[in-house]
Amino acid sequence: MSETNLPEPKIVDKKPVVMTLEAGKYFWCSCGLSVNQPFCNGAHKGTDFRPVVFELSEPKKMALCLCKYTAGAPSCDGSHLKLTDSVSA
Ligand code: FES
Repeated sequence: MSETNLPEPKIVDKKPVVMTLEAGKYFWCSCGLSVNQPFCNGAHKGTDFRPVVFELSEPKKMALCLCKYTAGAPSCDGSHLKLTDSVSA
């Protein structure tokens, strides 16, 4: 059993964060526990979550998922619109 029992990702916000990223390698936080959103800071340690690694060859404006329920990680796919009110941010 893992130290941190986290069956579902923690919802950071029910909207994406839009940012222009420079070329480079990024680690998108999939667990929602990082205090450095939308990026991984290692807080997933002890859970079954792992960061999603992506690389940009040129600067790109992106809408990065913060609800952590996207099927197109790291980008927002609108999944936050389907989250019920009982799932709190
Ligand atoms: S801190 Fe969330 S995936 Fe690493």
